[in-house]
Amino acid sequence: MMESIPILQQAEDESQAAFLRRFARDVLHGLSMPRKGLPCKYLYDDAGSRLFSQIMNLPEYYPARCELEIFQTHKAALTDLFGGPPLNLVELGAGDGTKTRVLIGQMRTKKTDFTYVPIDISRAAVDCVSDRFSRWFPGLRTRGITADYLAGLKWLSGQNHCRNIVLFLGSSIGNFSARGREAFLKNLRGAINTGDCVLTGFDLVKDIAVMTRAYNDAEGITAAFNRNLLTRINRELEADFDPGLFRFYSTWDVAARAVQSYLISTCEQRVHIGRLGRNFDFSAWEAIHTESSHKFTRHQTRELAARNGFAVEAEFTDSAGYFTDCLWRAA
Ligand code: TRP
Repeated sequence: MMESIPILQQAEDESQAAFLRRFARDVLHGLSMPRKGLPCKYLYDDAGSRLFSQIMNLPEYYPARCELEIFQTHKAALTDLFGGPPLNLVELGAGDGTKTRVLIGQMRTKKTDFTYVPIDISRAAVDCVSDRFSRWFPGLRTRGITADYLAGLKWLSGQNHCRNIVLFLGSSIGNFSARGREAFLKNLRGAINTGDCVLTGFDLVKDIAVMTRAYNDAEGITAAFNRNLLTRINRELEADFDPGLFRFYSTWDVAARAVQSYLISTCEQRVHIGRLGRNFDFSAWEAIHTESSHKFTRHQTRELAARNGFAVEAEFTDSAGYFTDCLWRAA
């Protein structure tokens, strides 16, 4: 039986109005900085999540393909390391579930007893992934939760009565700032029991051309994904952005070791945001930073584990050496 609890208690308490207030506050803060920027989590509304699913199927976007190859090649070894029941398989930022399907398929053939808990900031993504998994795997226990990472970890910390396997796939860990990343991992470690596992994806540093191409596809899906944030602000905060007057641009940042993404105003313009009762001025070629996608060395992933209370159990890498999934155990 599929048990669908679409909204986490804490998230439920935070009404739509409270969410909008927070969104408005974050947009005000981001657009008032000398260097404008917007928090990347707002890219993933329902439309943004659909566009991101398309990005994951693009020929240029290697991380999704590499991680799928890792799962297909190493699914038996990986799920053996998860150990026995009873457990929750918790996925932070579940997206469309393409990669997780491989792991769950493997766990099912071994008759492992578990509940799949997809947690995602987009309600539509949670509903879609819950539906797909109940079709793919009849009888699978699924408990979908709509929440951001912070609320997701809060829920997880109430699950100490059973073993948890936490999946944090793709290159999401690369989207934190260096400080945010450490705080997130400490928080995650605190939310689970000693002995629980975390499987985290890390996009490894490689040829700069390969990395930047992944964020600048020929079809323009990545640009549409970023511009959708302006459309969202228009709709939810009563703004009058003309997304056509912003150009998507991404570039390799040598010092931060990250691909930085921007929406750049192609002309001098003034934007009004109704819910903030304010205008924001853009000079020609002024940028809004939308996301940092940090890339990692293997050494860095091991240091991150050690510093935040995890022992490295195994590392799985694709044949090109582009991407690694690290299985850590809470020490
Ligand atoms: N988490 C993804 C990544 O960093 C998200 C992403 C892919 C993205 N392409 C993007 C974010 C372009 C902003 C701009 O790889």
